[in-house]
Amino acid sequence: MLKGRHVIQPDDLSVAEIEEICALAEQIIVDPNSFKDVCRGKILAALFFEPSTRTRLSFEAAMLRLGGAVEGFADASYTSTTKGEILADTIRVVSSYADVIAMRSPKEGAALLASKYSDCPIINAGDGGHFHPTQTLTDLLTIRRLRGGFENQTVCFVGDLKFGRTVHSLTQAMCRYPGNKFIFVSPKELTVPEYMIEDILKPAGVQYECAERMEDVIDKADILYMTRVQKERFFNEQDYIRLKDSYILDKEKMKLAKSDMIVLHPLPRVNEISYEVDDDPRAAYFKQVKFGMYARMSLIAKLTGAL
Ligand code: CP
Repeated sequence: MLKGRHVIQPDDLSVAEIEEICALAEQIIVDPNSFKDVCRGKILAALFFEPSTRTRLSFEAAMLRLGGAVEGFADASYTSTTKGEILADTIRVVSSYADVIAMRSPKEGAALLASKYSDCPIINAGDGGHFHPTQTLTDLLTIRRLRGGFENQTVCFVGDLKFGRTVHSLTQAMCRYPGNKFIFVSPKELTVPEYMIEDILKPAGVQYECAERMEDVIDKADILYMTRVQKERFFNEQDYIRLKDSYILDKEKMKLAKSDMIVLHPLPRVNEISYEVDDDPRAAYFKQVKFGMYARMSLIAKLTGAL
């Protein structure tokens, strides 16, 4: 039963619930018109304490396409946070207006804290370098549509694997399905955090390897998951400048990859995928964006009890 639940990290959803959400998303893809009124009378609050294009607008589009309404902010500088209001109070207030809240914060744990004070479901739309569960639903729906399922995939993550919350979330989710392998390609300074290895990969008993050069491992990938080196997570600009162009996927590197590999990226991209790759049939990152809206439509419908 998903009605009324908070979604803070990918593990908050069981394998069966992910199946339920993906199955509904696929029904919506096939016949969106049948779902255009299911959230009539319901309100989504989109509280974004950190910039976003895709997540905020896709949440809003999702609720509007379900017939519901949206409120919220894209910039907390126009809210009473600037007067010193604490998050707990903001959430108590907003949850008395809304039926579901999607919230992004630069602070790890903010969505979990919000869930303690909310009268309606909180959806974590990204908390610092921690988790981004609806990006994971987006990624899973994309993998299901384009790779046929979640099992027996070799997923190669490239880029900022230290701060990349989408990487942490998708790894946690894919560890729960049999036969998956993981390759983590990053500079030494941006390797996957120790807790990912000790608390998630090792207990799941999955195969994984770490590499520094994309060219050495790209041929093994079924899914190549590119990520941006995130300027906003660095304390030192010199480190960012040194590392920002560590990996650039171009046509030459694509020649080394399998013909049925897919390239995903949570976006925004900066330099890490050359524009020349966009025309390659394996480039799936703009399809992924659209699947994200359907995944969020499904999740909103389930959490609000509309379906
Ligand atoms: N993928 C993603 O979270 O993009 P935004 O930061 O634009 O929301």
